Amino acid sequence: MATSPNLSRREDLALREAASGRTRTQLLANDLQLSPTEQALYERLLSRLARGEPLSYLLGFKEFYGRRFWVNSDCLIPRPETETLVDLGLQWALELKGFSDPLGCEDGKEGDAPIRLLDLGTGSGCLAISLGLELQARGFSTQCFGTDLSEGALRLARNNAAWLGADVQFLQGSWMNALSEVDKSEGFDLIVSNPPYVGSEDWEFASGSLSWEPRTALVGHEPSKDGMNDLREIARQTIKRLRPNGLLAVEHGYRQQEFVVDCFQQAGFFRITPMNDLAGHPRYVLGRL
Ligand SMILES: C[S@@+](CC[C@H](N)C(=O)[O-])C[C@H]1O[C@@H](n2cnc3c(N)ncnc32)[C@H](O)[C@@H]1O
Repeated sequence: MATSPNLSRREDLALREAASGRTRTQLLANDLQLSPTEQALYERLLSRLARGEPLSYLLGFKEFYGRRFWVNSDCLIPRPETETLVDLGLQWALELKGFSDPLGCEDGKEGDAPIRLLDLGTGSGCLAISLGLELQARGFSTQCFGTDLSEGALRLARNNAAWLGADVQFLQGSWMNALSEVDKSEGFDLIVSNPPYVGSEDWEFASGSLSWEPRTALVGHEPSKDGMNDLREIARQTIKRLRPNGLLAVEHGYRQQEFVVDCFQQAGFFRITPMNDLAGHPRYVLGRL
């Protein structure tokens, strides 16, 4: 059976899987044939896709760092470039704390204090959950927290944590204000954030599939022309709560790097490292005390 025009084979298969509840192997074995009911559902999905609705919202999930995260229009769809924040967090942990044996056969991590990890603006929970699970897989014990303003996003994040077997506390509120005084005063070793950074007048915001995603996830609660409000606030809040040798790692827009470095400096970070994404665009800034 022919695939629909303007649809990649991968997208077509994903929609057929969603419409039929069958695996792609089963579908391929049957020449992609659908029953009349499945065909009707497939065509409904196709027309939603044609109106610009993102494929991940239609399917209800998105892969991130090798795991399936449930998504809906309450959360930003996790992006591949955000996976680098997981890599950077793991690199920091391994450099600082040393390699540990995941089977627990060697001395090392046992008895070490857990890594306190905080993900600000957690959305689907993809960063907090992936980092928590990946650190644990390398033998680190962790205490993981994720905060968000959106109750809908937090519901998804909690579901994702339960489904993936991750132990993360998800709390509602603005950035670090979501945390209790005790949790704030204990501080954090690793803080990651992919905050809203789209400028309120940015052409990218009005275009294409971005318009289906939550506005607060893209431009923030108090949008600004340069998209820097939240990055500035996060740098200001986290400097007080980062433990010695701790790391703040943020993602930002590709035209914002010099401003992010500047606001890290203003906030009081010393060791500041700007970094590019895999496509070579300025995309992350790391800050240490
Ligand atoms: C760009 S999305 C990132 C979501 C997720 N971390 C990811 O990378 O896919 C930004 C998130 O920050 C949340 N957010 C916006 N303003 C916030 C605030 N003041 N405090 C906490 N979270 C906020 C949004 O609801 C959204 O989930």
